[in-house]
Amino acid sequence: MASPAPSETAAPVASPCPPIDAAFGRRSVRVFQNRVPSKEDIAECVRAACLAPSGHNKQPWRYYVYRHENALVQRVIPLARERCIATFHTDFRKLAESCGVPYNEVDPIFYQAPVVIFVTACGGLPGLENMDCGLSMENFFLAAERRGLSTCPIGLAATAAPEIMEELNKLRGPLDASHDAKEKIAEKQQKYTCAFVLGYADAEHDVQQKRQPRNFNKVVFADQF
Ligand SMILES: Cc1cc2nc3c(=O)[nH]c(=O)nc-3n(C[C@H](O)[C@H](O)[C@H](O)COP(=O)(O)O)c2cc1C
Repeated sequence: MASPAPSETAAPVASPCPPIDAAFGRRSVRVFQNRVPSKEDIAECVRAACLAPSGHNKQPWRYYVYRHENALVQRVIPLARERCIATFHTDFRKLAESCGVPYNEVDPIFYQAPVVIFVTACGGLPGLENMDCGLSMENFFLAAERRGLSTCPIGLAATAAPEIMEELNKLRGPLDASHDAKEKIAEKQQKYTCAFVLGYADAEHDVQQKRQPRNFNKVVFADQF
């Protein structure tokens, strides 16, 4: 008997560890091997990201996947570096030190990660798009973790958001194939949300890149449990 076709809601893959372990084990990585993750792995992580909850199920996120050598990524590095120094007085050497990684002079923004991903939002409920994209990104991060891939959100890249959006707006995403006029309009109004990097952690520096300390005392149980 033929096995049933996989449904969109089915669990994506058999996982080497339960998802909760990925949440406990994940940390941001800033030193990467020179090894590019496969398109299949990235696509599976995006599928996980697309399963995130969103306000009114608007799914406002869009993922733009770039290789590090891409001209846009190369343009963003010096732009973001200069703007971070001018605006936040960022000391990149100190930042690297505080993260327990060597200072990456070539690329202190994306840490020469093999893959840089820009996340934009469009068509979400007003005020909820950032929340939706954050939840979606975390789904991506945990799916990546389960595939042996590491991530680091790169908020500092937002200093180059206008230039990034200028380029992304030239690309017509998957909605080009859509006949939904409303979605096409929403696609044109997409907003920059965040960037993150993806790759295989460099084993040599893996030990230093421990998860940052956490305070778990952030909950009030308002009733007896
Ligand atoms: C919205 C956001 C923006 C961030 N931006 C940067 C960044 O620009 N550069 C960087 O090295 N890390 C960045 N991080 C990573 C944080 O420093 C990291 O998540 C935090 O120190 C906790 O460490 P962990 O992710 O290893 O648990 C960012 C994290 C978030 C959530």
